[in-house]
Amino acid sequence: MSLVSAAVITGVGSYLPSRLVRNTDEPLSLLDTDDEWIRSRTGIRTRHWVEPGESTGDLAVQAGRRALRSAEITSVDLVVLSTTTPDHHSPGTAPWVAAQLGLGNVAAFDVSAACSGFTYALAAGDAWIKAGMAERVLVIGAEALSTITDPSDRGTAVVFADGAGAVVLQRGCAEEPGALLAVRLGSDGTQKDLAIVAAGGSRWPEERQQAARGERCLRMQGPQMFSHAVRRMTEVSRLVLESVGWQPDVVEAFIGHQANQRILDKVADLVGVPGPARLGNVRDVGNTSSASIPLVLDEVVREKSVGAGARTLLTAFGAGAVWGSVAMTWPDIRPPS
Ligand code: UT7
Repeated sequence: MSLVSAAVITGVGSYLPSRLVRNTDEPLSLLDTDDEWIRSRTGIRTRHWVEPGESTGDLAVQAGRRALRSAEITSVDLVVLSTTTPDHHSPGTAPWVAAQLGLGNVAAFDVSAACSGFTYALAAGDAWIKAGMAERVLVIGAEALSTITDPSDRGTAVVFADGAGAVVLQRGCAEEPGALLAVRLGSDGTQKDLAIVAAGGSRWPEERQQAARGERCLRMQGPQMFSHAVRRMTEVSRLVLESVGWQPDVVEAFIGHQANQRILDKVADLVGVPGPARLGNVRDVGNTSSASIPLVLDEVVREKSVGAGARTLLTAFGAGAVWGSVAMTWPDIRPPS
């Protein structure tokens, strides 16, 4: 039997900053909102935020270290870090994270694809391995969204949160548990204003003026984002399932980007994913953008509630607009110690 070469997930790790914020805690309690609204409209009860001075890079290092430990390796050929909140406008955060992890002069770059970033970063790692450019890749999704959220904006402050998750990809074969079997990505830049940090980039002078008005925070057209998210995550999930020839009812593990429980339920219903396959933690950690899928992955690996080799579907949608889905089998990895 000839084995098909593939990138295989062999390690996973995650990290949440220690500051736990309940719906009833400040500064959320100072807003014109309440626990009942937040729970019923988003599914969120708690989230974690960084402390002043704690950065995306700091979270990424912790998650990356745990993923390397779980894969029982100390070197990789590439670090890909997906984030919306890099430590600096320039340089990228991935090289600093690689250095903190003791990975030497390894190739390292950031991916900017908002809440779909983890699927894009996985696709990059997958492609490097398939092209023979890397044997081992550390893929990290890390965010400190609280640093770009306006605490007085109830439409975003209750939703966005901080955290990091990471996986190790290694060259293997498609028959192994943890193999990435298909990836589908897409974008629609005409929708860039749906969720945007308008100021601070190179598009000026308008955005310089916005910067002066304090437009360095994320602004979101929530209901419009909601309907685009449902439509695109459903479409791209169907596409990737078609690529691997799976009917939706054979999916055993489904992890959608943890944006909002109502979005996740709608997508899973429309795609036809069985109830027991639906995994998530938006209730406890909120919307952590590109960290959200690996955070769930790590949590479920720790719980050991999904068997190695189970048919797994990942799907995400984010600002840009961008979207992505991955079909894979559940990895056979031990929880990080
Ligand atoms: O991560 C990338 C992908 N992200 C997403 O796709 C996010 C998608 N959007 C959402 O999750 C939801 O749109 C939100 C959670 C942001 C908002 O929920 P919604 O159910 O879409 O609320 P809405 O914006 O349609 O507002 C409904 C009502 C409005 O009041 P009126 O006009 O009906 O009187 C809002 O002003 O709820 C009000 N509202 C709130 N009330 C209490 C909006 N936010 C809040 C709030 N607390 N936090």
